[in-house]
Amino acid sequence: MIKASDFGSKFIWGVATAAAQIEGTASQYGKGPSIWDTFTAKNGKIKKNHKLDPACDFYHRYAEDVALVKLLGFTVFRFSIAWSRILPNGRGEVNQEGIRFYHNLIDECLSNGITPYITLYHWDLPQALEDEGGWTSFSINAAFNAFVSICAMEYGDKVKNWIVLNEPFGYTSLGYMLGVHAPGKTGLSNFFPAVLHTALAQAEGGKILRAEISKANIGTTFSCSEIIPYTQSDSDLLAAKRVDTLMNRLFIEPTQGMGFPTANWDVLEKFQIEYGTWRLQERMKFDFDFIGLQNYFPLVVKYNAFIPVIQAWEVKAKSRKKPHTAMGWEINADSFYNIIKQFAAYPNVKNIMITENGAAYHDKISNGNVVDAERIAYFELYLQALLKAKKEGINITGYMAWTLMDNFEWAEGFNARFGLVHTDFHTLKRTIKYSGYWWQEFLKV
Ligand code: NOJ
Repeated sequence: MIKASDFGSKFIWGVATAAAQIEGTASQYGKGPSIWDTFTAKNGKIKKNHKLDPACDFYHRYAEDVALVKLLGFTVFRFSIAWSRILPNGRGEVNQEGIRFYHNLIDECLSNGITPYITLYHWDLPQALEDEGGWTSFSINAAFNAFVSICAMEYGDKVKNWIVLNEPFGYTSLGYMLGVHAPGKTGLSNFFPAVLHTALAQAEGGKILRAEISKANIGTTFSCSEIIPYTQSDSDLLAAKRVDTLMNRLFIEPTQGMGFPTANWDVLEKFQIEYGTWRLQERMKFDFDFIGLQNYFPLVVKYNAFIPVIQAWEVKAKSRKKPHTAMGWEINADSFYNIIKQFAAYPNVKNIMITENGAAYHDKISNGNVVDAERIAYFELYLQALLKAKKEGINITGYMAWTLMDNFEWAEGFNARFGLVHTDFHTLKRTIKYSGYWWQEFLKV
């Protein structure tokens, strides 16, 4: 049986969350609206029209939840700061109640022996900035930099571990190209400027943290998936290459000083020329102390001429009769191992942390218990793959499970349960699942 000590005594074990998914109090205590507050208020955007507030009411229950982190045995708690709680209008006047809230949360972690890892941007852009164009507007960069500075100066004495962005491909593609996440924009004319400003924010955020905080440990995160061609035909191989470029390479390569991976793809070459991105190569570069990888599943792709731009189509796990989670995501720990190796091959990636990994299932409470054996099996498999990669010499220094408790899963609303702790969304009662107890045992030895 795999155990935490197999990874060595210095390995970091944490559990991850994000502000918008758990906090609630969306329009209280001086917080300004975020794009997710606006998006969820519209009918038909979120499964079953679930509304964001009160989510898990973490704002009021943070002490109880930090106690859960401790009880489960994790020594790291990853959470994000809601930008519009600090700056209700995205820039300018600071909301002191918001500042105080995160001080209290940080202090609660520290007094319980838990190290905070703070994500600066986990998708909840202040609506006031979206009104100016959000990530598509060049004005976003100055606003983001100012927000980073405020957080660094305010919390930098207490918090040394920082994550600049959460999954830049996630929010630029889902929010600015496909329109299924906030702010619901579509098309390449939104996607490309959002990509550019995001790549700048990622590096500039890192540079500000470096300048403002002594001994900071600075990272950023990337969603990643091994891309597997459906067949070895030339067209499927090309489709797989394109998907890999977008999903895995688009945001890491600028940090490495390589610019955007535009070669041999006319669409991206055009983007590069239109926005003159090669001139910004230096600004998009930053030597991160760690690279956060977030992996859940591989993607099997097939050529399809009818899909605009990418000409690729996902062949779902279900139709391939592969094991999958409640999200329909394939369970495939070898692909976790393979994608870690792919990222570790960049010469400047010195240190990898898994900043998210986990699984959603249709959990049910019965007699006060949540017997989520499938989630336990998922973690066992994925941790074995991680250990294999580590033993082969890849510098993997930590792992964070997604997520502490069932929460607001974006467009899925409260319908997808990823937590180690069950949340009753009527009473907000927390119940530790069997997987939570499994982690407790795993971390003891
Ligand atoms: C990616 C995101 O960072 C997180 O917010 C989300 O809930 C999980 N993965 C699961 O989809």
